[in-house]
Amino acid sequence: MSEPELSVQGLDAAYGASQVLFGVSFDVGRGETLALMGRNGAGKSTTLKAIAGVLPPRAGQVILRGKDMAGRKPYRVAHSGIAYVPEDRQVFPEHTVEENLEIAQKRGLDGTAGWTIPRAFESFPLLLPLRRRMAGRLSGGEQQMLTIARALMGNPAVLLLDEPSEGLAPLIVAEIGRLIRKLRSAGTTIVLAEQNSRFCLAVATRVAVIDKGGIVWHGDVEQFHTDPTVQSRYLQV
Ligand SMILES: Nc1ncnc2c1ncn2[C@@H]1O[C@H](COP(=O)(O)OP(=O)(O)O)[C@@H](O)[C@H]1O
Ligand SMILES: [Mg+2]
Repeated sequence: MSEPELSVQGLDAAYGASQVLFGVSFDVGRGETLALMGRNGAGKSTTLKAIAGVLPPRAGQVILRGKDMAGRKPYRVAHSGIAYVPEDRQVFPEHTVEENLEIAQKRGLDGTAGWTIPRAFESFPLLLPLRRRMAGRLSGGEQQMLTIARALMGNPAVLLLDEPSEGLAPLIVAEIGRLIRKLRSAGTTIVLAEQNSRFCLAVATRVAVIDKGGIVWHGDVEQFHTDPTVQSRYLQV
């Protein structure tokens, strides 16, 4: 890997007195999709929150294109190019789909404005006929697509997705999988936290497995498939 787009180094994080991340480290190369996998409660969501600054890390570094973001406020992390899509799919319910996208429009780090409203609708064709609908009236799958589209409107360097397939019907999960692969071929760097191994192995290029708040395995998706112990030891399969 040349210089990683995102390098997470020795991240510790805690909720009050209860520490849940212990030196989490991994790198993501530009244009790669890293699947952060692990059992329920392993620390996937906390890792994304710590990267995004929503839960300020107690120690460690979050280096985006060579600059440490650890400890910055969430809006500053977002402004610096890390877009975070939390599990709970927050849309502005009283605004239309199109307005949700407009609100989020922002140039990227290097001034790029590759994502425009027409491109968003082209990439998320299911949202096009819904563009005047209030976001609060969308289905769960439609809201998931809207939150991803909205995150992209800020032209981020890195997209963090927490359980994008959770609770969605199989057809919608397949659509989101296609979309993530398409984003990857367009060069977007993605970190995907998922319990659904089948889903994330179908879209990822690299895998990091987290267990009890620490990374226990890290490698290419092909290596993951040929490692007999990692899946049985650390994942629910
Ligand atoms: N808001 C919170 N307050 C206290 N403990 C939490 C909170 N959120 C998560 N935890 C704990 O942190 C650990 C990691 O949780 P989480 O990062 O959500 O795991 P995952 O996303 O892998 O399921 C779990 O033990 C969980 O109970
Ligand atoms: Mg989680």
